[in-house]
Amino acid sequence: MLAARRGWRALRRCAALPPARAAARLRVRQALAAREPAGGAAVRVQGWVRSVRSQKEVLFLHINDGSSLENLQVVADPSLGTRDLTFGSAVEVQGKLVKSPHRMQNMELKAETIRVVGPCDTWAFPLKMKERHPLEYVRQFPHLRCRNNTLSSLLRVRSEATAAIHSFFKESGYVHIHTPIITSNDCEGAGELFQIETLNEAKEPAEKNHFFDVPAFLTVSGQLHLEVMAGAFTHVFTFGPTFRAENSQSRRHLAEFYMVEAELSFTESLQDIMQVMEDLFKTATSTVLSKCPHDVELFHKYIAPAQKGRLEQMLKKRFVTITYSEAVEILKQASQAFTFKPEWGCDLQTEHEKYLVKHCGEVPLFVINYPYDLKPFYMRDNEDGPQHTVAAVDLLVPGIGELCGGSLREERLPFIESRLQRLGLADAYQWYLDLRKFGSVPHGGFGMGFERYLQYILGVDNIKDVIPFPRFSHSCLL
Ligand code: 4AD
Ligand code: MG
Repeated sequence: MLAARRGWRALRRCAALPPARAAARLRVRQALAAREPAGGAAVRVQGWVRSVRSQKEVLFLHINDGSSLENLQVVADPSLGTRDLTFGSAVEVQGKLVKSPHRMQNMELKAETIRVVGPCDTWAFPLKMKERHPLEYVRQFPHLRCRNNTLSSLLRVRSEATAAIHSFFKESGYVHIHTPIITSNDCEGAGELFQIETLNEAKEPAEKNHFFDVPAFLTVSGQLHLEVMAGAFTHVFTFGPTFRAENSQSRRHLAEFYMVEAELSFTESLQDIMQVMEDLFKTATSTVLSKCPHDVELFHKYIAPAQKGRLEQMLKKRFVTITYSEAVEILKQASQAFTFKPEWGCDLQTEHEKYLVKHCGEVPLFVINYPYDLKPFYMRDNEDGPQHTVAAVDLLVPGIGELCGGSLREERLPFIESRLQRLGLADAYQWYLDLRKFGSVPHGGFGMGFERYLQYILGVDNIKDVIPFPRFSHSCLL
């Protein structure tokens, strides 16, 4: 007790002392945006060296701390250079911000001290100074590729897009729900599940005491949980990791991806769901374009030169809508030979989706009313015929194919009960049937693949290049 009191007194004495005048710490982005040299006061900038150029009279460094695509130029006396001040090393530079004579940049840092915080063995470091490494090359170094310009721009865009999606829903009055990652339902009914078991259960399958008393899986969609919440909050959304045991070698599929899902109660029309999809897509994209123009420009300049124009068109035009039956007719009349013959009742393949988008003018395209037998149990029966359909919608976009999938949900107890009974799922889904017994309302929603969204806006061909950590092979799960 006495010791504690003494400690307090000592602390208070320390607090009373005038603080040593430490140089203000600035991020590279702040330093670059500074208007006036900060009254001659010293500043401190930390980051990683992107280039070093030593001349007789002057030493130039470019440093980056991930806060912007642009580097901060440091100008120093060559005597401040040391052997370990190399490309890739981590440094702390203290000095004064001055107006840069360089046309392309606003400010530069005139160094008074340079401290190498963490040296870098440039020979062994897989990234090389001033080289534009192809995406395939940096994919081999999932732990280092974020120090490359393209990937750091991508990750800043990803972060901005995440925030834009959250604010879109927040401003539209939706409640954000954290839906479970471990669940016992196969929402999509496609069996593309990763099952969860403890290490002991895996070693001894006959183990009597299972951790979970029902089979447990990683979620394929938060939709069913969102439907629960839409029954209380009216408008809800979730945005989280989703897992599917699908072909992970494809350019559009991942085993682990992020999905944005929304659910709306008191909604009788598929058009209302489509309007939210279109608004979300356009609002998030405009926000990203205005918040990180330089990062987006890097992609539109070097990776997908046609994408900028396409996005501008997309933002101006209304999305087009056709029915599944019309889509099949368009495909049947196409002069193009497809690997999969288009037939009413068959799933649309990527080649079909890409053709349809092109046929409709390379703008995002809603395809609605899919065959009843193709879609999951929860979709609302259109009670039509002889070609029986459900109120489903897929949003197809140029270069990617399917970006969003949604539907009206079957809110009528007799319909959903008999469908679940036919599938042998009525017992497992008693809780879902309860939702139709207690205050059921017409409702619907959709899910958007976040990585496919990023692929589309940036024009990235391979989905593995829009995630923070690519699993380039099954033997390397970083
Ligand atoms: O069309 P899906 O399967 O829809 C659902 O899961 C609904 N339960 C969503 C809802 O209505 N709440 O998946 C939605 C989107 C797809 O359109 C696609 O963009 C993306 O998720 N997606 C994948 N993205 C990357 N890798 C995969 N393996 C994906 N599977 C689906
Ligand atoms: Mg789908």
